[in-house]
Amino acid sequence: MRIDILTLFPGMFTGPFSESIVRRAVEEGRVQIFLHNIRDWATDRHRTVDDTPYGGGAGMVLKPEVLGRAIRAVRALAEPAPVILLTPQGRPFHQRLAAELAGRPRLILLCGHYEGVDERVRLLHVDEEVSIGDYVLTGGELPAMVLVDAVVRLLPGVLDQESLAAESHHQGLLEYPHYTRPATYGGLTVPPILLSGHHAEIARWRRREALRRTFLRRPDLLAVAPLTAEDRAFLRTLGWTEPADSRPRLLLASANPGKVQEYRDLLGDLPLELVTPAELGLEGEVEESGDTYQENACRKALTLARRSGLITLADDSGLEVDALGGAPGPRSHRYQAGSDAERYRHLLQQLEGLPPERRTARFRCVIAIATPEGEVYTVEGVCPGRIAAEPRGTGGFGYDPIFLLPELGRTMAELSREEKNRLSHRARAARRARPILRQLFALG
Ligand code: ADE
Repeated sequence: MRIDILTLFPGMFTGPFSESIVRRAVEEGRVQIFLHNIRDWATDRHRTVDDTPYGGGAGMVLKPEVLGRAIRAVRALAEPAPVILLTPQGRPFHQRLAAELAGRPRLILLCGHYEGVDERVRLLHVDEEVSIGDYVLTGGELPAMVLVDAVVRLLPGVLDQESLAAESHHQGLLEYPHYTRPATYGGLTVPPILLSGHHAEIARWRRREALRRTFLRRPDLLAVAPLTAEDRAFLRTLGWTEPADSRPRLLLASANPGKVQEYRDLLGDLPLELVTPAELGLEGEVEESGDTYQENACRKALTLARRSGLITLADDSGLEVDALGGAPGPRSHRYQAGSDAERYRHLLQQLEGLPPERRTARFRCVIAIATPEGEVYTVEGVCPGRIAAEPRGTGGFGYDPIFLLPELGRTMAELSREEKNRLSHRARAARRARPILRQLFALG
C-alpha cells in the first residue's frame, strides 16, 4: 500500500512512524508512506497557505489554490486514490472503515489545520471525510496518524492473523479477557479452563466472555455484530433481548433503476431498509420544474416524504459544461427530448472542434433528505472532469459515456461499479448524506 499525507507539519509524523508496527511495516516494504508539505505549493514570497475567512470571524482558512495544486500534484504521483480529509465533520472512523481502507492500494490523506479548508476544496478535491471522534483537535495530523496505524496493522503480513482475528472489534465484539503467568496474582486465579489444554473448550469460553463483555459494556454493538444461534442463546441467559428485525425504512425517491442500484450500493450497509416509491405502490414522479438542483431535490424529497410518511432521500443532478455556460445544468435530463444517446450526441455536436482543455465539465449532485414533518437537509457532491471526444463505455446512464475523468483516462461509463461508487458526484454526495441519515434515524 502507498499512503501520501498532505500536511503543514510533516515533522509531527516522525516519532509515531519510526517506532513499533508502522516502522516494521515500512521496513518490510508492506507500506510506503510519503509526507508532503502543503507549503511547497505556495507561490508567493512568504509561502502563504492561509487567509482570513470571507464574512469575517476568527481563525484562518487554508487557501483553495494552494491545496488544489498540492492535491493535484500528489494525486499524479501514482495510481488513482481517494483523497481523505481528516475533519471532525467526517464519517466516524471505526474498525470496519479501517478494514475497508486497508483493501485499497493507495490512500491520500489531507490534514486540515486552523479553521479548516476552503469549502470548494472539499467539494472539488475531497472524496471522503473522516473523523476520529466527537472532539476537536488542533489539526488533522494526529487523526491521520491514528488512521494510518489502524490501517497498516491490518495489511497482510504485518500482524499474525490469529491476533487480528481475536482482537476487539474484529468481529463486531469486544475481546475476551487475557491472562499470563503467574496462575495466581493478587489473590485472583486464572480461570481453570485456560489451563485445561482443551482447545475447543477454550475457544468456546473465549467466545462467551467476548459476548458477555460486549453485552455489559457495549450492548449497542450486538445489534450489528454477526451472531450465531448459539451466541444468541447464550446472550439470552445474560438477560439480552433480541432486537426485533424492524429496520427503519428510508424511501429512495427515484424511478430510475440505475440510480436506485447506486444508492443501494452506497448506503446499503446502513441498518436501514431502502425502499422505492414503486415498491410502496406510490406515484414516484414529481415534476422537476425548479431552476436549481436544490429546489428540485427538496421538492421531490418533501413531496414523497409527505405522501409516504417516511424519511425520504431524493436527488437532482446534472452535467455542467463550462464551454456551454454551465448547461445542461439542473435541466440535464430535460435538455433535449429523446434517449440518453440522443442527448449526449447533441452535446458532442455543440462542442465539435473544441480542444480538450476547453471541454472542462463537472457532474453535480444535490441530495435532499426530508422528513414527513417537513424538515429538509441538503448535501452536495461534485465530480470534476472533461467531455470526451466520443462516447465510450457501456456502464452507468445519462451522460456517463461522454464524461471523462482525466486522471483515470476513462469515462464514467467505463468505470467499474466499485470505482463509480467511490468517485461519482452521487457517491460524494451520498457520503455526506450518511451523517444526516445516522442522525435522523438515531443510528449512533
Ligand atoms: N481535525 C480536528 N479534529 C479532528 C477529529 N476529531 N477527527 C478528524 N480530524 C480532526
